[in-house]
Amino acid sequence: MPDKNILDIFKRANKERFAVGAFNVNNMEIIQGIVDAATELEAPLILQVSAGARKYARQEYLIKLVEAARMTTDIPIVLHLDHGDTFELCKSVIDGGFNSVMIDGSKYSLEENIALTKKVVEYAHDHGIPVEAELGKLAGVEDDVNVAEKDAVYTDPQEAKEFVERTGCDFLAVAIGTSHGAYKFKTEPKLNFERLKEIQEILPEDYPLVLHGASTVIPEFVDLCNEYGGELKGTRGVPEEMIKHAAGMNVVKVNIDTDLRLAMTGNIRKAFHDNPGNFDPRKYLGPAREAIKQMVMRKIKILGCDGKAF
Ligand code: G3H
Ligand code: 13P
Ligand code: ZN
Repeated sequence: MPDKNILDIFKRANKERFAVGAFNVNNMEIIQGIVDAATELEAPLILQVSAGARKYARQEYLIKLVEAARMTTDIPIVLHLDHGDTFELCKSVIDGGFNSVMIDGSKYSLEENIALTKKVVEYAHDHGIPVEAELGKLAGVEDDVNVAEKDAVYTDPQEAKEFVERTGCDFLAVAIGTSHGAYKFKTEPKLNFERLKEIQEILPEDYPLVLHGASTVIPEFVDLCNEYGGELKGTRGVPEEMIKHAAGMNVVKVNIDTDLRLAMTGNIRKAFHDNPGNFDPRKYLGPAREAIKQMVMRKIKILGCDGKAF
């Protein structure tokens, strides 16, 4: 099926109160596991590529893999740039055939973030491509930027209003307490839903919001990683009920990468443990791909986007 405009999917998501999973992809097995899950559950899908993924797998390969996925399934698949940090990067993926981009100027001052986002929006809109922007600062690590918990800043509602008006961005990533990676909270998980409500009330009705750092850090996969390799200590994710709660508000895009990494790594470690003599990559990447499929099916159900593809 041809790609579908992400904003049409968001419109329906807001109306019917579900969210769409935006999954980070780095290679063929990850893409296949995710696409198989969404196809089986008839869910719309966002596959997103970070600058690091693009450098690792190369843009042309990722584009062709997504093209191959579209040839084998009828569900709508949006190919999105995750955390673009320069105008040049956003331009390059738009020119290369991505359907949607994120410009993340959240590490800059408000004025600098507005100027950069506006420049990307102008180019993207001229090419019919919608733009995600970010305001506020999540804690955690993404690409090579490490934001300490004390430097994380919740999105300010007044600023969000001004930001959206002045940049014309189509959807906005907000900081309400989530963070990137597997170590999201020092103590009890806590998201600021009051803040989320204030943000959605001040923005135009049904303005689409995005939750980054939304992996639940699934204990089953952490356990697998621990049992068959180096120990991951102190991991803590966003509880499933909180993701559900956000999906029932204006959050229409939920970003997941860490859970994919844990599912893949845990299962590869187990495959090596169970069969140390094996040196056929298909025998450890195959189980990892299947684990990703099962995990993504679970995510899709939590987000409520199963059956919303058509
Ligand atoms: O938000 C960041 C994503 O988890 C992507 O991570 O930049 O290491 O590919 P990456
Ligand atoms: P997680 O690290 O929680 O999976 O977040 C991923 C993300 O926000 C990608 O942009
Ligand atoms: Zn992110």
